[in-house]
Amino acid sequence: MTARIIDGKEVASKVHEEVAAGVAEYKSKYAKVPGLTVVLVGDDPASHSYVKGKERACEKVGIATETIRRDASTTQEELLEIVEGLNNDPAVSGILVQLPLPKHLDEDAVIHAIDPMKDVDGLHPENAGLLMLGQPRFAPATPLGVQRMLVEQNVDMNGAQVVIVGRSKLVGMPLTALLLQKGVGANSTVTVCHTGTKDMAAETRRADVLIAAAGFPGAVTPDMVKPGAVVIDVGVSRVEDSTRKRGYRLTGDVEFEGAKEVASAITPVPGGVGPMTISMLLVNVLQAANLAASN
Ligand code: GUN
Repeated sequence: MTARIIDGKEVASKVHEEVAAGVAEYKSKYAKVPGLTVVLVGDDPASHSYVKGKERACEKVGIATETIRRDASTTQEELLEIVEGLNNDPAVSGILVQLPLPKHLDEDAVIHAIDPMKDVDGLHPENAGLLMLGQPRFAPATPLGVQRMLVEQNVDMNGAQVVIVGRSKLVGMPLTALLLQKGVGANSTVTVCHTGTKDMAAETRRADVLIAAAGFPGAVTPDMVKPGAVVIDVGVSRVEDSTRKRGYRLTGDVEFEGAKEVASAITPVPGGVGPMTISMLLVNVLQAANLAASN
C-alpha cells in the first residue's frame, strides 16, 4: 500500500479563509483589527524563519502583527517588562514569546507573566489547566492543527487507538488532553510514549493514528507503523544537505519513504503539520480579540 499524502497547505488555506472572514466581521463590528505581537529573543535561525512565516500569515488574513526582536543578551527583567507592556496594550490581542529562549532566561516565568487572556500559545498554566479539565480556552496551535487536519481528512477519532511519541508541553501533553476529550475529532484512546517507554515499537504498532512529536529524525521507523495507520509527523529538524543552496533540508521524525509504504495516509515534512500550526495560531488570535471585545 502506498499512503495518501496529506496536504497541510491545502487544509491550512481553508482555515486562512475562515480566519480572514472572521477578521472582516470583527473589523466591521469593532472598527479595529486583531493584533498579534511576537517576542523573539536571540538569533536561532529556525525561530527567525518560523516568525517570518507567522508575520506573513497574519498579513494575509488582515491581522496586525509586530515582532519585538531582542538580542540573546536580553535579561529576564527586560523580557518581563516587554511582556508587561504588551499585557497592558489594548491594541495587542495576542502575545507569543517564541521558544526556545536563550538558556539564561527562565522560560516558565516568562510564560506565567503573559496575561492568560492574551496567551494565544495556550501555554499559561491557566489555559493548560482549562484544557486538561475539558474546558479549553486557548489550546496550543500545533495540537489544534493536528486535530483539525485529522477532522478534515475524515479520520474517525472516536475510540481510535492514538499513540503519541513525545510528551512536550507544546505538543505531546496538550495533544493528549485535546484528543481525550469527548466530541468531534477526539474521544480517542490515547497512549503517550516517551524516553521512559520500555518497548516503543510495541506501543506504536497498536496505533490507528500515530503521531510523531519526538523532535529528532528517525524517531519513527517503518517497522513501528501498523499497516493502514494514519501517520502524522510533527517533527521538523534541519539536516545538512550540500545539494541544497541553503546547505540543509527539513526532515520530520518519521522515515517517510519507508513509512508511506505501510501507512494509509501520512503527512510530509515540510508541507504537513507546519502550515497548520500557523493557521491555528491565527484562529487563536482572532478568538482572543473576540473574547476581549465581548468583555
Ligand atoms: N517554537 C516552536 N514552536 C513554537 C510554538 O508553537 N510557540 C512558541 N511560542 N514557540 C515555538
